[in-house]
Amino acid sequence: MTLILNKADVASVLDMKDCMVAVEQAFAELSGGTAVLPLRIGITPPEGLSLYMPAYLKKMEALACKVVTVYKNNPMKHNLPTTIGKVLLQDPTTGDVICIMNGGYLTAVRTGAASGVATKYLARNDKEQVAGILGAGVQAKMQLWAVCEARNISKAFVYDISDTAADAFIAEMGKKLNLKIIKAKTADELLQADIICTATSSPSPLFDGNKVREGTHINGIGSHTPTARELDSAIVKRSKFIGDSREACFKEAGDIMIPVNAGEIPESHFYAELGEIITGKKQGRVNDREITLFKSNGLAIQDAAAAKLVYKKAVAAGIGIQVEI
Ligand SMILES: NC(=O)c1ccc[n+]([C@@H]2O[C@H](COP(=O)([O-])OP(=O)(O)OC[C@H]3O[C@@H](n4cnc5c(N)ncnc54)[C@H](O)[C@@H]3O)[C@@H](O)[C@H]2O)c1
Repeated sequence: MTLILNKADVASVLDMKDCMVAVEQAFAELSGGTAVLPLRIGITPPEGLSLYMPAYLKKMEALACKVVTVYKNNPMKHNLPTTIGKVLLQDPTTGDVICIMNGGYLTAVRTGAASGVATKYLARNDKEQVAGILGAGVQAKMQLWAVCEARNISKAFVYDISDTAADAFIAEMGKKLNLKIIKAKTADELLQADIICTATSSPSPLFDGNKVREGTHINGIGSHTPTARELDSAIVKRSKFIGDSREACFKEAGDIMIPVNAGEIPESHFYAELGEIITGKKQGRVNDREITLFKSNGLAIQDAAAAKLVYKKAVAAGIGIQVEI
């Protein structure tokens, strides 16, 4: 039998705190050598892009593949979203697909969770901190949620080029997190924050990295092609650079590839993978003046860990529909 879980089913069982625990374990497995993580495979049919993201986590017994598509004409032509994702979870013992679940909400939560874990390990640990979120879309909301799980956030700033998106963000997340959220007029206004998340669709830098305060922690999750970047060379240069995966960063992240290719920083500026910080192989923040930067490209191990968590919780709660395929 295969369990089918729709978006509402996934949302009803997946919360940030648990997802952060699962994602932290997944990064530890990656660093410890017990994860299998091939780079994602892409196929480009005439109308769009289709990505296949497989992963296996031995200790967590999680084997999964996410199929995610980006079809720009979908909303206009077919009344469907641009990005659609589904996760196939397998039983590692038999190989059988035991669950097919909606991947949209899961992707946003697991992406938030990675930033939450990075924040937990890398941000300063003051009693109260201010968060700044650049972008007010789907991912941005989960970034704030995750940062609030990792640190005691007293207030947050949000900036988006779309006023409507920023207003919706404030209404939804202010209520969900019971938090004061202020709409910033410019990206610069937000640089007073202690923890900054960049989660936009922008292909070019969002702010002047020279203006970032010492001691800031940044989670950069938006851009993910060699020629696009949310972060300029100045902030990358000033930061201790931690990536989700070295391989993914040097194949997909313009944020580090552009300054390296321009000779502004050496490749060795890539300091560590998040898993190396979690497992103590490399030291994280060493003082309150350091700027730490986590670059997330999004890894299939995050999907596999989150999908396994969702499946276990859904089975325990009797949620979803079992079908014979
Ligand atoms: N790292 C990961 O694991 C991961 C996972 C999923 C998505 N993403 C990426 O995250 C980004 C955001 O995705 P989303 O699903 O939230 O998209 P979205 O369309 O819901 O939101 C993007 C927001 O960015 C805003 N924006 C664009 N340019 C801006 C600028 N210069 N300044 C401020 N705001 C700006 C847009 O107005 C929009 O509100 C995309 O690039 C996506 O590919 C990364």
